[in-house]
Amino acid sequence: MNVYDSERMAEALLADGHEAADENDADIVVLNTCHIREKAAEKLYSEVGRIVVRARDAGRPRPTIAVAGCVAQAEGAEVMARARAVDLVVGPQAYHRLPELLRRQAAGERGLVALEMPAESKFDRLPRRSARSASAFLTVQEGCDKFCAFCVVPYTRGAEASRPLAAILHEARELVDGGAREITLLGQNVNAWRDGSLDFGALLAAVAAVPGVRRLRYTTSHPRDVSDAMIRAHADIPQLMPYLHLPVQSGSDRILAAMNRRHDVRFYLDLIDRFRAARPDLAITSDFIVGFPGESEADFEATLALVRQVGFAQAFSFKYSPRLGTPAAERDDQLAEAVKSERLARLQALLAEQALAFNRSHVGRTCEALIERRGRHPGQWIGKSPWLQSVVVEGEDHAVGDLVPVRLVSAGPNSLEGQRVTNDATASW
Ligand code: 5AD
Ligand code: SF4
Repeated sequence: MNVYDSERMAEALLADGHEAADENDADIVVLNTCHIREKAAEKLYSEVGRIVVRARDAGRPRPTIAVAGCVAQAEGAEVMARARAVDLVVGPQAYHRLPELLRRQAAGERGLVALEMPAESKFDRLPRRSARSASAFLTVQEGCDKFCAFCVVPYTRGAEASRPLAAILHEARELVDGGAREITLLGQNVNAWRDGSLDFGALLAAVAAVPGVRRLRYTTSHPRDVSDAMIRAHADIPQLMPYLHLPVQSGSDRILAAMNRRHDVRFYLDLIDRFRAARPDLAITSDFIVGFPGESEADFEATLALVRQVGFAQAFSFKYSPRLGTPAAERDDQLAEAVKSERLARLQALLAEQALAFNRSHVGRTCEALIERRGRHPGQWIGKSPWLQSVVVEGEDHAVGDLVPVRLVSAGPNSLEGQRVTNDATASW
């Protein structure tokens, strides 16, 4: 979602007469920030320091620095107190105001902070989309009402809110007109999307029906918001790619309850079974947190057991990071850093094994690769398989945006090699 927000900020600045510049001679730098874990939040301050030193070493005046995103939202004017080189601060619901704020800053106003979460949508005030790639993001839902005990998102991104269907379809058409072939619908709880009586299943069908949308994806889903229509969509909508990111966080019922995830392991595994029944080749990915306060060795082993049972194509896994203002940070049964590190290493070793096994299980299959960019070597292109694997394809006559039929001939942990085949061969998947 931060990639999407950064694109939209860039579009707003371009529409206001700014031009894109190299980082080293930009007059303005906008840092878009993440507050989800301490390490992500701390990056802001090291980055500001780096920009100041670089400008000084090059004998240039330091650029105007604007801080956007969730660190801005959470820390507000504090950001400017901690990093004096920061000129203005703008939250994730107010970034349509960035051009105006920069103009006021240039006119001499100081200490500008915009953190409001306005009732009217920022999306209505942003310029049209200009897709620059074969695959584009489209935010359909923002915010979260779930209040998992570890998470800052409900505080930084605010309450769950859905964009109207008409606005989404309009943006999808703009993206297709700009050359996008694949659209990924975004939301902190994307499947909580609603518009009147329409639910997320209806949204998937409506976006898939936009002419030119060849591939459709979405992220991130919450298990509690999964509907029958959403599961059925994976059987019924050919453009919907066989890929599901469904965070589970832990495989222990005790920890899931302490996390306030509002479901147990059984509920999650049942969902996986139902998704797989609808689309047997579905690539399933997830998020995990290890070392949540009070997590015992047995709780952690339950997470490993869940991973073995599901078999994930990919996953993101993190050490629990206490975040100020969240209930879990207040608990007095925090785990030692060394325990968290050791558990994370064990979990990641298992997930890496599964990722490699998943990729290897695709060798011999044919599919289409959506070409996204050139590879490192001449004549090499990098595309994505339907299962979101990177596929390296050789051949001079490809172009970004092409859907190239390939046979997958070898697999590594991070990518597969694909050889071009004739169109008919892909009919088999
Ligand atoms: N510590 C570690 N990981 C976290 N996540 C969210 N909050 C925290 C935290 N305090 C992870 C969750 C979530 C992903 C986006 O980030 O796994 O799904
Ligand atoms: Fe955070 Fe939980 Fe909401 Fe996801 S569902 S954004 S983890 S509070």
